[in-house]
Amino acid sequence: MPRPMDVVFPGRERFEDRRKEGDQRKLLDEFFDHATLLTVSRLQHRGLFRAIEFPISTGKEGGVFRATHSDGFRAVKIYRISNTTYRNLPPYAVEQLRREASLRNYGGLIFAWTRREHTILGRLREAGVRAPIPYGHARNILVMEYIGSAEGAAPRLKDARFEDPEAVYRDLVDQVGRMVRDAKLVHGDLSPYNTLYLDGHVVLIDVAQAIAADHPEARRLLVRDITNFAKFFTRLGLPVEPEAFLTAVGGDRVGRRAERA
Ligand SMILES: Nc1ncnc2c1ncn2[C@@H]1O[C@H](COP(=O)(O)OP(=O)(O)OP(=O)(O)O)[C@@H](O)[C@H]1O
Ligand SMILES: [Mg+2]
Repeated sequence: MPRPMDVVFPGRERFEDRRKEGDQRKLLDEFFDHATLLTVSRLQHRGLFRAIEFPISTGKEGGVFRATHSDGFRAVKIYRISNTTYRNLPPYAVEQLRREASLRNYGGLIFAWTRREHTILGRLREAGVRAPIPYGHARNILVMEYIGSAEGAAPRLKDARFEDPEAVYRDLVDQVGRMVRDAKLVHGDLSPYNTLYLDGHVVLIDVAQAIAADHPEARRLLVRDITNFAKFFTRLGLPVEPEAFLTAVGGDRVGRRAERA
């Protein structure tokens, strides 16, 4: 049985600050319990990645790690199997998952949630939306395209520096428009936190809570997110009217069952 550090940090001798190392170890021990380590090793055997290198981001519900692969890098998202993760899943999505499978415990629900993120990423890619390519999943782990370069992961739009907010806005309208019109999905948590910025383009991430564009909740979610995003652009000096933004992404038809394709 590999210990977390053996799997995760092959080069950890480089860490000099022992306190920091202790914090890292605690964090990793929390993520890499026995079952998760076995899943990591299963995915490695399937050739989905070679080794997990370091966390790109960690939160209460999960973490995203950079992993090596023979053709570059992969992003590995690990959901914590905990009550917190379970409690933070949006009710409309939980309801849907429960209808799809008999899920007796929150572990099962989190596995279904991971699979759902994989499926939705696939649908987005098919519709030509810029989002990470999904490579595979098992239990609470999702392996996807790494958005970034060897130097580091792409920044969130919230932290990115860009010259031309209007070009970013147009790109975002194009991507969200494809999501709504072609993938027929509403993101459900679209924000400058869940949008990465790479090589002058936006990439949509964190899509597990996406819902069908004709779902009764879809319009409310889209309007909420677009209103907030419009404020983000307005603060950057590009006044964006939420109504115009909504129309530009095809939002006028969202939430109407009759429009089902
Ligand atoms: N494919 C990817 N390539 C590079 N970085 C990624 C990728 N996916 C996610 N990240 C990074 O990990 C962070 C968290 O990912 P994500 O938003 O999917 O998870 P989350 O569950 O919302 O976590 P949190 O609550 O910490 O935001 C992102 O803000 C981004 O910095
Ligand atoms: Mg997120």
